[in-house]
Amino acid sequence: MKKLRSQEWFGPLDKNGFIHRSWMKNQGWPHDLFDGRPVIGICNTWSELTPCNAHFRELAEFVKRGVWEAGGFPLEFPVMSLGETVLRPTAMLFRNLASMDVEESIRGNPLDGVVLLMGCDKTTPSLLMGAASCDLPTIGLSGGPMLSGKFRGNDLGSGTGVWQMTEKIRSGEMRSEEFFEAESCMHRSKGHCMTMGTASTMASMVEALGMSLPGNAAIPAVDARRSTLAQMTGRRIVQMVKDDLRISQILTRGAFDNAIRTNAAIGGSTNAVIHLIALAGRIGVSLCLDDFDRLGDGMPCLVDIQPSGEHLMEDLFYAGGLPAVLRELGEAGVLNRDALTANGRSIWDNVADAPCWNRAVVHPFGQPFKENAGIAVLRGNLAPDGAVIKLSAASPHLLKHRGRAIVFESIEEFHTRINDEALEVDENSVMVLKNCGPRGYPGMAEVGNMPLPPKVLRKGIQDMVRISDARMSGTAYGTVVLHACPEAAAGGPLAFVHSGDMISLDVHQRHLGLEIDDSTLAARRAKWTPPPLPERGWERLYVQHVQQAHQGADLDFLVGRSGARVTRDSH
Ligand code: FES
Repeated sequence: MKKLRSQEWFGPLDKNGFIHRSWMKNQGWPHDLFDGRPVIGICNTWSELTPCNAHFRELAEFVKRGVWEAGGFPLEFPVMSLGETVLRPTAMLFRNLASMDVEESIRGNPLDGVVLLMGCDKTTPSLLMGAASCDLPTIGLSGGPMLSGKFRGNDLGSGTGVWQMTEKIRSGEMRSEEFFEAESCMHRSKGHCMTMGTASTMASMVEALGMSLPGNAAIPAVDARRSTLAQMTGRRIVQMVKDDLRISQILTRGAFDNAIRTNAAIGGSTNAVIHLIALAGRIGVSLCLDDFDRLGDGMPCLVDIQPSGEHLMEDLFYAGGLPAVLRELGEAGVLNRDALTANGRSIWDNVADAPCWNRAVVHPFGQPFKENAGIAVLRGNLAPDGAVIKLSAASPHLLKHRGRAIVFESIEEFHTRINDEALEVDENSVMVLKNCGPRGYPGMAEVGNMPLPPKVLRKGIQDMVRISDARMSGTAYGTVVLHACPEAAAGGPLAFVHSGDMISLDVHQRHLGLEIDDSTLAARRAKWTPPPLPERGWERLYVQHVQQAHQGADLDFLVGRSGARVTRDSH
């Protein structure tokens, strides 16, 4: 084993060595722990303000067990935690900030390897991105999904039913005691959202990328086997350090291809597009929006899970978990079988014999749950740099559509006007929402799946074409075109759409067009002024440097990696 970087701190017999060891000894660590054994950082997003990650102090203890067993020295450290449900204005505004915290915490400390504890939506990409920019031996461990929600004898998935119950309490159909009871029934255990929302999607991406031990995505947070996985992860990272198996050896182009196809096969979130592109940018893998379309083209959805289907993550675990899905992809010839994973084996070695115990949850590749479930990338004069649509969530009859735009300049304007009975909108209209992109909101809010106007809903209409520069929750559904690039606040064509303009959508042709002539578009552009910069602080820095969604919405100066080397020490 080559000399470990932690020895640059703990090894020298000089003033600095004294300082580095002595202050650590105030925690009671015996001297022999500084003898050159691997020092393992446990990067913890625990926070009582991030309910999905609130059990991570316990999980970290199991990781430590494994590290000790394997002869390592575990040191747990906190990083910024992003709670999707409580953090305002939107957790995505802080993904890159958290990634900087992770990167600098890893690089600046005497660590040889890192375990990333991830759960709620943005905690997974922020930790992966920060760690990728350092490129130490790194392994991921997700906190696991919650148990299935159960309410009045039926499953109740995270997010599902919130809107209906909110309407019922407003109309008096539901009593406050029933409302409170439903809250307790939906989220009744530790863990992250148990639908295939962004958290479960990203946990699946971690496993499909090879960044975790097999089984990481679906083991429920409270199942004893999650603790076992944590312990095995602790054991494994010590060996990864001894083997100098770095994150850049796992996050290869083949691994990203596997992740993109897996996202289609699980009916995963559109947020994965942004996070995977940002992660690829950190590690130096060339990945663009069109890769999602090309690799996802014709890919079926195999997993029947909410929001695209009926089941929940607990059901996926009992059916065999993600290994059962990856085996289907491997047998169908759409998995890069040789991609290396964190356990030192190829992904195919890990899943070739994976059983499936419930074909109602994990369908065979040849008899999928849904055909054509990849992410389609649309272009045209309304989105020259691309926009995305999740095919598994869209209505087939709306995939080719032409309609009159009804425009909302902001999400606040949308909320003010949408219930107005005089609003000139019907089921053929195309709802357009502006200024919700990375710069515009800022932070790219999950508001792209605008609720339908009441007068359309009363006709029994369930879906309309919606277009925006926003994101949408992984639990959302509908014919929703998202991430239009460039965004309105960056002077993209979306900024120049007026109510009454005709918009044409043709998903088969991958086309999204605004039917106005170039001179009209140019005249509108000439009158446009960019929104003012936020006055100070993180928001100002973010808006000045955030890239567009098709580039992963990372900050321009964070793209790439600096490695883990630190050459200066002020002590
Ligand atoms: Fe944390 Fe859904 S709110 S995973």
